[in-house]
Amino acid sequence: MRQKLVIGNWKMHGSLAANEALLNAIKGGASATLAVCAPFPYLAQCQALLAGSAVAWGAQDVSAEARGAFTGEVAASMLAEFGVGYAIVGHSERRTYHQEADGTVAAKALRALEFGITPVICVGETLAEREAGQTEAVVARQLQAVLDALSVEQLGRVVLAYEPVWAIGTGKTATKEQAQAVHAFLRARVAERDDGVAGRMAILYGGSVKPDNAADLFSMPDIDGGLIGGASLKAEDFLAIGNA
Ligand code: PGA
Repeated sequence: MRQKLVIGNWKMHGSLAANEALLNAIKGGASATLAVCAPFPYLAQCQALLAGSAVAWGAQDVSAEARGAFTGEVAASMLAEFGVGYAIVGHSERRTYHQEADGTVAAKALRALEFGITPVICVGETLAEREAGQTEAVVARQLQAVLDALSVEQLGRVVLAYEPVWAIGTGKTATKEQAQAVHAFLRARVAERDDGVAGRMAILYGGSVKPDNAADLFSMPDIDGGLIGGASLKAEDFLAIGNA
């Protein structure tokens, strides 16, 4: 059985006071494998409140560089010092607003792996790309950069997330059939490299996952959990998705 995983992506939300209430509620109710990806300044707070609990914590990005004159960047080695278990890389908001190319995303994933951090590598098509019938071509291209950069051993330590851009924060979820089709496609591409790794790889779905659609999505054979934006900011909703 593959690991089931639900990861929260807080994006640029939170405050010390709000986080404390949220984290305490989540760790008290966690019954599944959960993680929260917080803004960088709050990682120390996550570590202080979550250490020893069943809830892991992660970052929303990581530098592709090891160290040096890169103003504003945060190194994987620094994240590791704060007990970070996961780093989201290649989220569509980073690809869109920060012009992150496929190769950069792969380099970030490699850097995270170097420090024992699990990269959560996001892929997904825009609405225009889906309507033009390019969904598979787009996610294949995004995945290929990762396949080219990582060894089989490294590939065995990543989590993939399929996040159709048109479903993120829009309230429009992919149907479970639409999501399953892309997940199966991605797993098959990974299997071309290594069958065993593909079989074990967690592929999460993200894009307007809510308590009322999570169980349906997670019932599909190739959907191993979710990457949750908006609904991860409410403990009750996030826990309900975890229970799904
Ligand atoms: P959403 O965001 O759940 O608010 O749609 C998902 C994501 O961007 O990871």
